[in-house]
Amino acid sequence: ALISLRQLLDYAAEHNFAVPAFNVSNMEQVQAIMQAAAACDSPVIMQGSAGANKYAGEIFLRHLIQAAVEQYPHIPVVMHRDHAPTPSICAQAIQSGFSSVMMDGSLLADMKTPASFEYNVRVTRTVVNMAHACGVSVEGEIGCLGALETLASADHSQLLTDPDEAVEFVKQTQIDALAVAIGTSHGAYKFSKPPTGEVLVINRLKTLQQRLPNTHFVMHGSSSVPQEWLKIINEYGGDIPETYGVPVAEIVAGIKYGVRKVNIDTDLRMASTGAIRRYIAEPANAADLDARKIYQAARDAMQALCQERYQAFGSAGHA
Ligand code: G3H
Ligand code: 13P
Ligand code: NA
Ligand code: ZN
Repeated sequence: ALISLRQLLDYAAEHNFAVPAFNVSNMEQVQAIMQAAAACDSPVIMQGSAGANKYAGEIFLRHLIQAAVEQYPHIPVVMHRDHAPTPSICAQAIQSGFSSVMMDGSLLADMKTPASFEYNVRVTRTVVNMAHACGVSVEGEIGCLGALETLASADHSQLLTDPDEAVEFVKQTQIDALAVAIGTSHGAYKFSKPPTGEVLVINRLKTLQQRLPNTHFVMHGSSSVPQEWLKIINEYGGDIPETYGVPVAEIVAGIKYGVRKVNIDTDLRMASTGAIRRYIAEPANAADLDARKIYQAARDAMQALCQERYQAFGSAGHA
């Protein structure tokens, strides 16, 4: 059944687990996520970005997720709009049936320029008023997602989510979940070496939880960038430079400090790209024209990855 983010994360907090929130833009991803959830009995969060809308179209995206809900009636599913840039885009998502939206007011509507605290509060509170009247949940964000690694250490504190601001933000907006900045960034190029506590500041979550013990935290940019998949991609014609993501063990540490939603997009891209490259390169498949086999290879690889995350984050067994 379709449920709101708040319903799911309140339950997750009671039971001390987190739910991976996978970005989706096609049917094979949706099916991989659901097959994995069914296999290990996990609730599901699927989220659509602006890029996903551009690729699939909002209508297809919505119906793909609704198909999942219909096919798996026993699995709770949250349909979430990722990084909406304006209140009106949130309104559109609510109108079309999403059960949760992220109003990203940490940036202006251009999604590039850092916004003031006052702007962020204003747009986020507008969305909360609208969404809560419809039974829809809201995720807000405070702080600046992005590569701590590349900046001087003096700048770190300005990028990380400030505890005082976070307290004030939650109080003034009444959001259901708070995305925090702790050194991660979107995409495959997060860290040039396996991250230390200097660049991936899990400790900040501990401080935040002390101040906001009842707030659900969201980690963005939480792909682990599996070295196995990186190797496979490069073995079969890819050219991805050395790079590291957020280790699963660090996410598990974050879950102890109130992380309840863990955003993952890049890892599914890597698994599907790697599986497709490998499948096509296999001489035994050279004469095959049935492209479904290619998609099937991608779907299987993504399913295995999803299942690992459900297990590691503790959502398995909680559908
Ligand atoms: O917000 C982060 C997601 O990875 C979005 O990626 O806009 O390419 O779909 P996308
Ligand atoms: P990754 O690029 O690490 O998968 O992060 C995705 C994300 O945060 C979507 O909002
Ligand atoms: Na943001
Ligand atoms: Zn994100």
